[in-house]
Amino acid sequence: MTEAKRLAGEKAIDYVQDGMIVGVGTGSTVAYFIDALGAIKDRIKGAVSSSEQSTQRLKAHGIEVLDLNHTGTLSLYVDGADECDANKCLIKGGGAALTREKIIAQASQQFVCIIDPAKQVNTLGKFPLPVEVVPMARSLVAREILAMTGGQPVWRDGVVTDNGNVVLDIHNLTISDPVAMEKAINQIPGVVCVGLFAQRRADVVIVGGQPPQVL
Ligand code: 5RP
Repeated sequence: MTEAKRLAGEKAIDYVQDGMIVGVGTGSTVAYFIDALGAIKDRIKGAVSSSEQSTQRLKAHGIEVLDLNHTGTLSLYVDGADECDANKCLIKGGGAALTREKIIAQASQQFVCIIDPAKQVNTLGKFPLPVEVVPMARSLVAREILAMTGGQPVWRDGVVTDNGNVVLDIHNLTISDPVAMEKAINQIPGVVCVGLFAQRRADVVIVGGQPPQVL
C-alpha cells in the first residue's frame, strides 16, 4: 500500500495553488504529500500543521509553519483517513491527531482526503473509532460509549495526544448513521473529539493507484 499512498499524496499537489497557506494533516500518506509540497515550497506561503510529527517534516523541507489563529480560513486542507465511505464520511485518528485535524478541516474551504484503496468501506466501523478524552474522564466516557453504542472501548495505553489527552478506540461498531453518532459522542462530558468526520466530511477523495482515482 506504500506505493498507493505515495500516488495519492502526490496527486493532491494538483489542488495547491500559488500563494496558498495549506492545511496539512498527519500520517504516512500525508508524509508523501509533504515531501511533494517540499518540491514546490517556493510557490506557497506556508502551512498549518495538525501535529508535531507533520510540523517537523514540514520544517525539514523549509516550509514555514503558521498559527491557525493568524491565518484565518484556509483554502485547502489535505489529510489521510483510516476509513472512508461512499459519502466521503471518514474515520480518522489512527495517528492520535484527530482533534487538530478536525479543527483544520473545519477551518478549510476544501478538504482533500488522500487514501490507499484499502481504506474504502461500505460502512464505517471496522477500524476502531478513536475518541480523544480528558484523562480524568477516561472511565466515564468508556462506560457512556459502551451504553450508547454497544462498542467496546479500549484505552490506547501509553499514548498521550499533542493536547495532553488520552485516546479510547471503540471496537465492534457498525456505523449506519455517522452524523448522528458523531453528534451523540460529542455530547459526553470529557470527550474532546471523536474521530468521525461526517458533519465536516471530505469534499474530494483521492484513492492512490495507477492512475489515482478522484472521487
Ligand atoms: C492521523 C490520521 C491519519 O490520517 C490516518 O491514521 C491515516 O494514516 P495513514 O496515512 O498513515 O494510513 O487520522 O490521526
